Amino acid sequence: MQLERVVLIGCGTSLHAAQVGRHYIERLAGIPAEAESASEFRYRDPIIGPRTLVVSIGQSGETADTVAAMHLAREKGATLITICNAEESQAARVADGALYMHAGLEVGVASTKTFVASLTILQLLSVYLGQLRGKLDAETTRRLVDQMARGPGLIGEVLAEANLYSSLARRIGHYDNFLFLGRGANAAIASEGALKLKEISYIHAEGYPAGEMKHGPIALIDPEMCTVALAPRDDLRDKTLSNIKEVKARGGLVVAVLTKGDDEAASEVDFPLFIPQAPDLLMPLVTTVPLQLLSYYIALLRGCDVDQPRNLAKSVTVE
Ligand code: F6R
Repeated sequence: MQLERVVLIGCGTSLHAAQVGRHYIERLAGIPAEAESASEFRYRDPIIGPRTLVVSIGQSGETADTVAAMHLAREKGATLITICNAEESQAARVADGALYMHAGLEVGVASTKTFVASLTILQLLSVYLGQLRGKLDAETTRRLVDQMARGPGLIGEVLAEANLYSSLARRIGHYDNFLFLGRGANAAIASEGALKLKEISYIHAEGYPAGEMKHGPIALIDPEMCTVALAPRDDLRDKTLSNIKEVKARGGLVVAVLTKGDDEAASEVDFPLFIPQAPDLLMPLVTTVPLQLLSYYIALLRGCDVDQPRNLAKSVTVE
């Protein structure tokens, strides 16, 4: 069957995974793709049919909005798969097929390892579709799979520097407002970074595509605002660097996730956080972990329960 479109749905952190997945599907499989919150999708009248592949993403496979959106997709005749961690979940039962994360039990309420696992499965799915459709030849596929195998090592390099994040948390943990900026797939990672911070530290944080900064959030920049920018070396790094300069010019504090060795960018920011050079495919994995570490240490510093944040449930089974 010739797929015409891929629609990725999820809630919260899983929505952010869907947003990254959209980039992967378009780039690697060459299929038009979009990502949408399951809670919005289920109340629209989406134009989908047998040539639409709907991919639901969820750690639990039990999120009420996601499962309801899947039923809607099913009624409309879409091909339906789910990426989930919990086997035997409702999502797995409704879908035509399930791609399990096999990430093990996630104890903390805030999704972390399952976010990284979702991105990895989305990479595999995108490469598989790209191969199936003749967009990726055998050589390119092999190269991409080799790149994926480097993921754990690159994440390990970031984790090995956890003490840096702990000391940075002591410098910035008193800020009450954070703006996370990124471009491309890193715009979704910026949203995820903001979500993690608000969930486990109870700090107001916004995630924004950096290009949107000028269209509103720039009005918030002052010395009380901490901006966390994702500007690793990629095609969009220079653009994000311009945003960083705009924040600095307005007296804002800037923490930036940068590629090791990028001294030029480091000289523009207050606190550089260096990550290893990584292939584009892996970049969203590698930029995620610094933001998770930062939230974790800020939450500890503020005496928050990182595993059981207030008001949140691991699985949102009612609307
Ligand atoms: C964030 C978080 C929530 C979940 C959301 C969806 O850390 O845990 O935003 O991502 O409730 O849950 P799942 O992925 O189980 O559908």
